[in-house]
Amino acid sequence: MEFTFYGHACFEIEVGEKKLLFDPFISPNALAKDIDVSKIDVDYILLTHGHEDHVADVETISKQSGATVIANYEIIQWFGQKGVQGHAMNHGGKWTFDFGTVKMVQAVHTSSMPDGSYGGEAAGFVVMTPGGNFYVAGDTALHYDMKLIAEICKLDFAVLPIGDNFTMGYEDAVTAAKFVQCDKIIAVHYDTFPYIVVDHEKVQSEFELAGKEIHFLEIGESITL
Ligand code: NI
Ligand code: MN
Repeated sequence: MEFTFYGHACFEIEVGEKKLLFDPFISPNALAKDIDVSKIDVDYILLTHGHEDHVADVETISKQSGATVIANYEIIQWFGQKGVQGHAMNHGGKWTFDFGTVKMVQAVHTSSMPDGSYGGEAAGFVVMTPGGNFYVAGDTALHYDMKLIAEICKLDFAVLPIGDNFTMGYEDAVTAAKFVQCDKIIAVHYDTFPYIVVDHEKVQSEFELAGKEIHFLEIGESITL
C-alpha cells in the first residue's frame, strides 16, 4: 500500500487499483501550500468527523474526481445537500467496498459541520484489504475500546493523532499503539496549529522506548507500507 501525506490529518492510501483519501484539509493549511488540490484524483473520501480541519476540501475533490464519500449518516446527509455522493455508516457497522472492508469504530471526540449543524459522532476506521489492514483513529482521546481493534484483525499500520490539546498527545498515542497491537504508526494531527506543535525527536524516542516505529512524513511525501 502506498501512503501519501497531505498535511494535518489528510492522507491518501492506494489500495490495489483504488485510491482512498482521508479527512481532506489542504487548501486552508498554509503548511500544505505546495499540494495542488486540483490534481487529487481519488475513488473514495473517508471522513472521521465533520470538523473543518477534516472536511474543508471534500466538496471540491469529490466533484472533480467523482469520489464517493464514506462517513457517518449526518455528514453524508450534509454533503448530500451539496450534491456530493456518499455511503453512510455508523459505529460498529462494516461494509465491503470494491477495495476491501471498512468498519466504523469508536472515537472519543466531538463532531459538528463547518456551519455549526450537527455532525453525528466522531469515528475511526478499520480498513481490511487484500494488500493489508490498517486503523485510522481519527481525532480521539485514548480510550479502552481501542483494545477491541486488536480483536478485529492484525494491523499492518495505524494512523494516530499525537498533537495533544484537541486529541490525545504522544504519550497516550504510545499506549494506543499497544492497545491496538500495532508496531508501525503514522503520526497525524500535529504542528498545523500553535497548540499542537510537537518535539519530533522526543516523540520518536518515546515510541522507540516502547518498541514502536513512528513515521513523521513530509507534506507531499509517499511511503510504501
Ligand atoms: Ni476534530
Ligand atoms: Mn481535528
